[in-house]
Amino acid sequence: MKKLRIAVIPGDGIGKEVIPEGIQALEVAGRKHSVEFEWTYFDWSCETYHQTGRMMPEDGIEQLRQFDAIYLGAVGFPGVPDHISLWGLLLPIRRAFDQYVNLRPVRLFDGVPCPLAGKQPGDIDFYVVRENVEGEYSSIGGIQYEGTEHEVVCQQSLFTRRGTDRILKYAFDLAQSREAKHLSSATKSNGIYHSMPYWDNRVLEMAKHYPEVKVDHFHIDILTANFVRMPEHFDVVVGSNLFGDILSDLGPACTGTIAIAPSANINPEKTYPSMFEPVHGSAPDIAGQNIANPLGTIWAGAMMMQHLGFPAVHDALMQAMETVLKEKQHLTRDMGGVASTQELGAALIRHIA
Ligand code: NAD
Ligand code: IPM
Ligand code: MN
Repeated sequence: MKKLRIAVIPGDGIGKEVIPEGIQALEVAGRKHSVEFEWTYFDWSCETYHQTGRMMPEDGIEQLRQFDAIYLGAVGFPGVPDHISLWGLLLPIRRAFDQYVNLRPVRLFDGVPCPLAGKQPGDIDFYVVRENVEGEYSSIGGIQYEGTEHEVVCQQSLFTRRGTDRILKYAFDLAQSREAKHLSSATKSNGIYHSMPYWDNRVLEMAKHYPEVKVDHFHIDILTANFVRMPEHFDVVVGSNLFGDILSDLGPACTGTIAIAPSANINPEKTYPSMFEPVHGSAPDIAGQNIANPLGTIWAGAMMMQHLGFPAVHDALMQAMETVLKEKQHLTRDMGGVASTQELGAALIRHIA
C-alpha cells in the first residue's frame, strides 16, 4: 500500500464544500488501487486573515514543502480585497514551488448541455497551457503622486527567456505527444510592443525543435472569438499568465460550465510539490447552499494522481465522472440539473465502487 501525504487547503466559500467531495472520491478510487492518503488540513483562508492579519502563517510555505502535493479549494471572499487574499496565499504557493506550468484541460462531456450549437462530445477536447509564475502577474510597479491629479500607476510585465522557453517547451512536448500534434499560441504582438513580439519569436525558435508539430498564432482578441466559433480547431493552446487565465475560463464555458474544469499547477521537475485545484473561485454568490459542482475539484484530484504516478486512480475517477455525467441523473444546477454538491459526489463514488 503506497501512502501519499497531501496538504489540503479548502480555503474560502465553496472551496470548503467541494474539497470534501474530492477527498472522498480520491479515498474510494485510491483504495481500489492500493493507494492510501494522509490528509493534513490547513484552515488558511480569508477568515484566518480576519483573525491574524495574514492569509497563512509566516512559515506557511515551509509547512507545505514536505508534502507530496497540495489540494486546494478556492481563495478569496468579500471582506478581504482580492489582491490581498490571492497574493497572500495562492500566488505565493505557485511561485515558491516554481509551479510554472498551469495545465487546464477543456473537454465537452456527453450529458452536459453545450451552449454552442451543433457541438458533440469529442468536438471540444484541448488543453490550455498557461505560464503560471511571471508575465503580466508581476508585483513590479507602483503608484506615484498618489491622491493628486498627476497620479500615475505603472504595472510591469516580466517575460524571461528561461520562463518563456520552459512553458513553450512543455506545451510543444504535450502537442508532440498528442494525435493532432497541433499547437496554437496566444499573442497580441500587434498591440503590445515588447513582450508579445518576444513571445512570438520564442515560439518560432522552439518550433524548430518540433518539426512534426503544426503551429499557428492568434491574437488574443480573435482567439477568444475562435474558441466560440470553432473550438474543434484547438488541440494545445499556449499562453502567457493573463491570456491563459482568460482562455481557461472561456474554454470550459464553451463546454457548458466552468465548474467542471481542473487546474494543475505543476512543477515538472518535481523539485517541489505541485498543487491541484478547480479553475473556478470561491463563488460567494452560491456559497453555503450545497449546490456547487464538485467535478472541477474531483477532476483536479485525478490530475494529481496522474502527476504522482498513479494513472489507474486517475482513470477510475475519469471513468466515473464520464458515467455520472452521461446518466444526467445527478447534475448540479450549473449543468441544468437539480442535484446538490453531495448528491453528485455520492453518485460519482457509486460509479467508482
Ligand atoms: P468564481 O469562479 O468564484 O464564480 C464565477 C461564477 O461561476 C459564479 O456565478 C459562481 O456561482 C459560478 N461557479 C463557480 N464555481 C462553481 C461551481 N463549482 N459550481 C457552480 N457554480 C460555480 O469567480 P469570481 O466570482 O470571479 O470570484 C469569486 C472569488 O474567488 C474572488 O475572490 C476571486 O478572486 C476568487 N477566485 C479564486 C480562484 C482560485 O482560488 N483559484 C479562482 C478564481 C477566482
Ligand atoms: C485562477 C484565478 C487566479 C489567477 C486569481 C484568483 C489570482 O483566476 O486560478 O485562474 O488569475 O491565476
Ligand atoms: Mn482564473
